[in-house]
Amino acid sequence: MTETNAKQRRILLVAACALVDADGRILLAQRPEGKQLAGLWEFPGGKVEPGETPEETLIRELDEELGIATKIPCLAPLTFASHTYDDFHLLMPLYVCRRFEGTARGREGQAIKWVRPKALRDYPMPPADEPLIPFLMDLL
Ligand code: C5P
Repeated sequence: MTETNAKQRRILLVAACALVDADGRILLAQRPEGKQLAGLWEFPGGKVEPGETPEETLIRELDEELGIATKIPCLAPLTFASHTYDDFHLLMPLYVCRRFEGTARGREGQAIKWVRPKALRDYPMPPADEPLIPFLMDLL
């Protein structure tokens, strides 16, 4: 891709979260059929809507997608994904959340899995998510 093409893409801001359970496992969610990148395993989250902070987005999305409740002070950003897809450039802060309430379930029909950090690479991920793995490995 040329530099000019990259500049023309709109920027999409998505907030993503590594939910970490008491055993140090991380939750991955599988993108469902019908969505872009279907079948790939991602850190849960979603688009930051106008007027939201990324933390507010995550609190909303974790509830909507997984039935998990958390609070803003329980979230800490670890790093940012920055990836150019064909039709947009994605900026995606990755938050870490260790304190949450509820049992995660795929409320939108998506498969979910608690995965040990060493096994994260066994799950095919969107290209924006993959570079985040070493940051998590280092942290956990
Ligand atoms: O989840 P949603 O489809 O709203 O996300 C918009 C786009 O952001 C996806 O099509 C995908 O390209 C990208 N994305 C990603 N990794 C995530 C979440 C979204 O690459 N964890």
